[in-house]
Amino acid sequence: MDAKVHELLNQQINKEFYSAYLYLDFSNYFEQVGLDGFANWYKIQAQEERDHAMLFYQYLQNESQEVTLEAIAKPDKVFTCHMDVLKAGLEHEQYVTALINTIYGAAYDVRDFRTMQFLDWFVKEQGEEETNATDMITKMELFGSDPKSLYMLNQELAARVYTAPSLVL
Ligand code: FEO
Repeated sequence: MDAKVHELLNQQINKEFYSAYLYLDFSNYFEQVGLDGFANWYKIQAQEERDHAMLFYQYLQNESQEVTLEAIAKPDKVFTCHMDVLKAGLEHEQYVTALINTIYGAAYDVRDFRTMQFLDWFVKEQGEEETNATDMITKMELFGSDPKSLYMLNQELAARVYTAPSLVL
């Protein structure tokens, strides 16, 4: 495997674990303000991010490439309102999309078609995650200022259940 592609894939393991940590922090915020449905939604999101990390980990191992686990950064944002959290979520997903695109570009440059094929799943996934993050913001804009509507939105998010990723390596 090309050294640059390898380095970027290895870094992505860390980025995905950080994403899990970040969403766990979001979940923690919502738990503390009593919105248990939002907390549930982000806890499941954290689980999905751990799955993403493990997919990068497994892909490198399957390719007989060295894996190096680095320290996971502390999520250090202080949120003053619910909307801040949701906006940070969208911003983060846009950042992750850019990371995936960078790896894809590096693989493309060296005609690493196998890595490109592996990353195709993530390209699609990022589209879905940006849509989800945008929907959360829209719903909060529409309903967040009305306690009854916020209660119902919280109930809706409480119904989210974890499903394993459709990509199996
Ligand atoms: Fe692993 Fe939310 O991207």
